[in-house]
Amino acid sequence: MAYTVSKLKDFSPATLEKAAEKLLQALEDESAAIKNESDWKAFRDHWMASKDGVLTSLNDLWLKAAPKDAKRDVGQRVNELKKRVEQAVDGARQKAERAADSQSESDRLDITLPGIQRLVGAEHPIIKTSNEMVAVFRDLGYSVQEGPEIETDYYNFESLNFPPNHPARDTQDTLFIANQGSKPLRQQLLLRTHTSPVQIRTMERLKPPIRIVIPGRVYRNDPPDASHSPMFHQIEGLAVDTNITFGDLKGTLDHAMKAFFGSSVKTSFRPSFFPFTEPSAEMLVSCFVCGGSGRRDSEPCRPCKQTGWIEILGCGMVDPNVFEFVKDNGYDPAKVSGFAFGMGADRIALLKYGVDDLQLFFQNDVRFLRQFA
Ligand code: DAH
Repeated sequence: MAYTVSKLKDFSPATLEKAAEKLLQALEDESAAIKNESDWKAFRDHWMASKDGVLTSLNDLWLKAAPKDAKRDVGQRVNELKKRVEQAVDGARQKAERAADSQSESDRLDITLPGIQRLVGAEHPIIKTSNEMVAVFRDLGYSVQEGPEIETDYYNFESLNFPPNHPARDTQDTLFIANQGSKPLRQQLLLRTHTSPVQIRTMERLKPPIRIVIPGRVYRNDPPDASHSPMFHQIEGLAVDTNITFGDLKGTLDHAMKAFFGSSVKTSFRPSFFPFTEPSAEMLVSCFVCGGSGRRDSEPCRPCKQTGWIEILGCGMVDPNVFEFVKDNGYDPAKVSGFAFGMGADRIALLKYGVDDLQLFFQNDVRFLRQFA
């Protein structure tokens, strides 16, 4: 409550003294509470405004109302109080000004101070490797497709020609989602063990001809060690058209490996088995670490285990049984043919950068990651 001047009961020195004390106390309290210029202005107006400020009221209620014989006394008092008010208002102005100065002092920008350095992020070496491989295929006209990491049994296995209970399923140690038993097998959920299900998903959506690359994360129940991780990355490829031959597969992959590892690498194919390709093959590239000699700096070459060759991917001609699942969308196995391939981005990054422990890629130690930025 702001102070207001009250009428005096009488004009005795004692009453005057008491009333003056009350006024001075209010003056002190209000001036102590001033924090800034607008506080000060309100303070000044309260006490000194000519219309209804405290000083004007003092004049009206004390001096003018005083009887003749008390006028001198009251006049002196009022003059004294007036001085005190003027001093207080002036002092408060200085205080408000100082506060404003120190405020702008702390707001001031010192452009000579060193800035706050923010670390710039960079692609993770595995993603970088994957993107580089994808770019090789994009240059060949392949488009990029993706699919879900939580997959159904149908897309991950059945439509890729892994029949229920077929032993080929055992080659991929699968992480199943719990409590799926009440659903039909083909709808049961699991973490995809490879990027191959995106082959079927894409063929359901796009009619032939297609040429696609599929980068993505995959999961298997492999305990982590220097060359295994329960989560890893693959790059899948699929080309379907009329008259695609194994020659197209070899030519495409040989070109891709030369574009990725350097034009001097050679490729080699050896027979293999995958349920969704027939025939199937594993492709090897001549070791890009030792140049294929099996020795480096007269030491045995570790990455290729002295063989001069590194196994890089699985591939083959799309099995007609796979096309049967998407026959209605134009993939009649009597009319179209295709090749597919799949490789591990993690393993390629490991070999490319000469890293000897896969786990380093996933521990996210910036001292390790920074080397690839
Ligand atoms: N999906 C296979 C795996 O994870 C890799 C693979 C092999 C993919 C042959 C293919 C392929 O598309 O044709 O082991």
